[in-house]
Amino acid sequence: MNIVVGITGGIAAYKAPELVRLLVKAGHSVRCAATEHALQFTTRATLETVSANPLYCDLFASGRTEHISLKDWADLLVVAPATANIIGKVAGGIADDALSTLLLAMPPQHVLMAPAMNSQMWAHPAVQRNIETLRSWGIAMVSPADGELACGTTGPGRMSEPEEIAACIASLSTFHSPLSTQRWLVTAGPTYERIDSVRFIGNYSSGKMGFALAEALAEQGAEVELVTGPTSLSTLRSPFSAHIHETRVESAREMYAAATKVFPHCHGAILSAAVADYRPAETADHKLKKNGSEGMHLELVQNPDILATLGGMKQEEQTLVGFALETDHELENAQGKLERKNLDYIVLNSLRDKGAGFGVDTNKVTILGRDGSRKESPLLSKREVARMIIEAVTL
Ligand code: CTP
Repeated sequence: MNIVVGITGGIAAYKAPELVRLLVKAGHSVRCAATEHALQFTTRATLETVSANPLYCDLFASGRTEHISLKDWADLLVVAPATANIIGKVAGGIADDALSTLLLAMPPQHVLMAPAMNSQMWAHPAVQRNIETLRSWGIAMVSPADGELACGTTGPGRMSEPEEIAACIASLSTFHSPLSTQRWLVTAGPTYERIDSVRFIGNYSSGKMGFALAEALAEQGAEVELVTGPTSLSTLRSPFSAHIHETRVESAREMYAAATKVFPHCHGAILSAAVADYRPAETADHKLKKNGSEGMHLELVQNPDILATLGGMKQEEQTLVGFALETDHELENAQGKLERKNLDYIVLNSLRDKGAGFGVDTNKVTILGRDGSRKESPLLSKREVARMIIEAVTL
């Protein structure tokens, strides 16, 4: 998501950079907007460094209507900490600085506030009335916690910890998504086809595209069955790892067995794995020795086509997405594959563009739909391409 973190002038503002760091780590793009008073407690340099973006602080600095462009960019505005003052301003419709102006421009359903103040201020009827008003407009609240306050007293008013606010944002972002009730299968990586105990036939697929797809689905709230060939990647460090169930396989036949087992329980499947079309007819359980002759013949037999098999199994309500890597007559070949394998979408990988394809972190794709639709991406990070594919195939 694109998130603006708004920071107002309370002592808890010193925790805002940690919140920004957690959101960036979770894969969100973050911009900060601070009031002048907030910069008494944290600094412009800190916020710009952790968000890797310029701070929005002065309504007139850019000479443009930045509150509107920022509102258009943002999926969510999180105010942490939110002082009694900013809560009162929004409730009263006052826009007299950069952040309060942005808050009035933003639809309330896209705002989350983490109030922080002294307990008595929090209990004041004016603050409680304002909180109720904001809630009734659809602004979400992360209620302040009980604990030690900066003024030396204890009680309710302490800003929730950044981890808790970040967790709340994660659940908010998936709450409304139709994917939050769905299970998807993703295949990723290469397959290794054994020749003997130390050799195999493989390919250069890194698995990056498939892992990015699994993460983009989980980010939208889906449960993901990730069936992956050998790769050094791991989902463990993903903030959504709890929603990604990984099955590690080696060969095409193992991938076939795992994918056909889970597909009947899935709403859809995206097969991005680079599956070997052929495997050695025989495998040796010891290391083959040179036999003294100049050459050697390896007999290959065809592997099962996982995508075509799922196309045959597919029920009316399931969505099936394949990938295609073509060198010539790209669109016609991809379209042909879509029809032959009974797919709903096919993602055509560009081989012509530098920075697209195997191993690299970027990709450029064309998504063709069974209904004749066609969407082209520019050269983007695999994470962004994954989000675009998920958006296109889950509409
Ligand atoms: N695929 C699969 N099982 C296979 C081979 C491929 O599931 N045994 C899937 C890939 O994951 C990808 C799509 O099929 O989604 C495209 O694979 P590709 O090798 O381009 O398709 P083929 O039908 O093998 O066509 P070609 O004649 O170009 O090799």
